[in-house]
Amino acid sequence: MRGTPRLLLRRLALASSLGAGVAAGLLHRPAVCRDAGSQALSLESISSRVAALEVISRAQPAVATATGAGGGAELIDGRKIAGDIRSEVKAATDVLKQEHGITPGLAVVLVGARTDSSTYVRMKKRAAAEVGFHSVDKNFSESVSQQQLLDTVRELNADPAVHAILVQLPLPSHIDESKVLEAIDVAKDVDGFSASNIGNMCLRGGKPPLAIPCTPAGCIELLQRSGVPVKGQEVVVVGRSNIVGMPVAHLLQSMDATVTVCHSRTRDLPAHVSRADIVVAAVGAAEMIKGEWLKPGCVVIDVGVNSKPSDTDKRGYVLCGDVDFESAAQVAGKITPVPGGVGPMTIAMLMKNTLNLARHSLQLPRQPLRRQNSKY
Ligand code: GUN
Repeated sequence: MRGTPRLLLRRLALASSLGAGVAAGLLHRPAVCRDAGSQALSLESISSRVAALEVISRAQPAVATATGAGGGAELIDGRKIAGDIRSEVKAATDVLKQEHGITPGLAVVLVGARTDSSTYVRMKKRAAAEVGFHSVDKNFSESVSQQQLLDTVRELNADPAVHAILVQLPLPSHIDESKVLEAIDVAKDVDGFSASNIGNMCLRGGKPPLAIPCTPAGCIELLQRSGVPVKGQEVVVVGRSNIVGMPVAHLLQSMDATVTVCHSRTRDLPAHVSRADIVVAAVGAAEMIKGEWLKPGCVVIDVGVNSKPSDTDKRGYVLCGDVDFESAAQVAGKITPVPGGVGPMTIAMLMKNTLNLARHSLQLPRQPLRRQNSKY
């Protein structure tokens, strides 16, 4: 086994300290960490934003296959699954337009000029156009006031053509992020970040949430559509952020998995990981989880999108996940690549959430996240 727990904790601490650099939009920095506990909403958001870059970037290096990496794991193809979901959303949107005369509307609020956020928002808008949604863009400079943002959210709440509102995170430090998110009408909370949606997701016997955070929902779809059984399985989630770790752990628990959530204060992370039938890595530290830690035949869902220096790539860096793909692919039974795994799913699930909120506005049943026995 490579790496002692103490070494790992040092790496986590180091990676946490790098989070601020990444938050400044420096995508080519080597390793980033989002697992900072309570502050993780903004830090872990880095991963899903950056993950989204892969969806449109045709300049990315080819996705490594498990075979190419010398391992036997089957690849879980996030690009293919996300494409299937977007096609389903488009078909359902066409029906909604024809039969009910409404076009789902997605409003995206973007503050500042961060490269990663701007790219992510551009991709969301492109996906929205492809599935036939109405799009509303609200772009502000970094110096926007909190009041201006609150006024904008209220204006969007009142706009009948808008069924879904997304405020791209992180917001500049002078803005109280939670106040802005709280201002979003729950019926338009497309990220599923509101206390009501998160609460209903977590409550046993709660009402179905109106939306589920997009990246966790994407992880569940990847498992479901790859035929991975979850019930009774040991799952280890590495990372406890509000955007990924926390919600994905609750979703998996609701599917009758036995879930352990590991984080920067976890002792002996390799020992926890080695017990897992399914590992969800959402910690934001480049290639931190090693193949040697894994249980043979396990399923690896790698949410992380980090960059590492490269002598061969003309950009000087390449993307990598939180899992050391090369060693993991030799041990795991199935694995998501980075790029091309979880990243494309975040946007596909945003499309699905938008469609569902439009359906909800007409009191139509939403399309469930999971097909069987699902309250979602
Ligand atoms: N920034 C990074 N990921 C996300 C996300 O899923 N939703 C929002 N609103 N902002 C993000």
